[in-house]
Amino acid sequence: MDPDASDEMTDHLVDFFDRIAPSYDSWAGGQHERVAARLVDVASPQKGEHVLDVGTGTGLVAHIIAPRVSPGSVIGIDLSEQMLAIARSKMSADRRSTTNKTVQFLGMAAEQLVFKPETFELVTMGEALAYLSDPNDALVEAHRVLRPGGRLAVSVQRRSLSTRAQDLFFQGLAPLARRHSLSLPRYSSERARFGEPDVLPQLLKGAGFDVTRMTEMVTGGRTRDAHEWTDLMAGAGPLPHTLIRALGPRYRTELEADVESAMESLGDPDDAFRYHHSYLIAVARKR
Ligand SMILES: C[S@@+](CC[C@H](N)C(=O)[O-])C[C@H]1O[C@@H](n2cnc3c(N)ncnc32)[C@H](O)[C@@H]1O
Repeated sequence: MDPDASDEMTDHLVDFFDRIAPSYDSWAGGQHERVAARLVDVASPQKGEHVLDVGTGTGLVAHIIAPRVSPGSVIGIDLSEQMLAIARSKMSADRRSTTNKTVQFLGMAAEQLVFKPETFELVTMGEALAYLSDPNDALVEAHRVLRPGGRLAVSVQRRSLSTRAQDLFFQGLAPLARRHSLSLPRYSSERARFGEPDVLPQLLKGAGFDVTRMTEMVTGGRTRDAHEWTDLMAGAGPLPHTLIRALGPRYRTELEADVESAMESLGDPDDAFRYHHSYLIAVARKR
């Protein structure tokens, strides 16, 4: 990606996260928090450790870690001020609380960390890797700021386990954008494979890490109808969000009618409106 296109993509992404910040934690019945809790369990933070949470968003991972490492520390970094505002709003009103002394949220890019080398025992990246401007640079930065033998814990969406209904819906988005003359920046499709068990370990290895543990988390459900489906999918990423929110009421009704017939075209009523949220979670040690 050329530098201008990369800046445009980052702005578009930060805009997306700024806009969805108030509904991020409640999306899909609290899905992000469940993934964050699993990531923390697998990362197994210890008392006294110093932790960096990259792409912290609303601070889900950081806030779960804080009481576990206290009197250590957790620093959450992100580029979206609205996400960070929510992360900070979850801090206790009591300034003397132990958690407040443990956790801190800063505006910073994952690719340009201001920290000295070998500062942290653990770096976490919850659902962030595939969104970063330069995932490889961010991994190299994580490696630099980790102490020798330090751990990196990552969760990434595993898109290949999406349902037929999701595949069909997402395939329809690009033609829909063209029909409405919307040209939206997108990352290359290789990022959709970051959560595959044969891809993530290679990415981490290339940045100087050895994977010590890998596990999967798969959840799913069904929406009741096309309206609920479209609302849910609008929170799934910048492309569906921008597109669905850009449609006026008439086109939104039209889209829902299209979704309805796409679901019928699947043949099996059990497949209609079914979604999976699948994640690969890996812990890797700094070589
Ligand atoms: C899907 S959210 C993940 C939030 C949280 N870690 C969680 O587990 O739910 C991805 C976050 O990465 C942030 N982000 C995207 N690009 C970034 C970058 N280059 N540097 C730092 N944060 C970035 C976004 O603003 C967003 O808050």
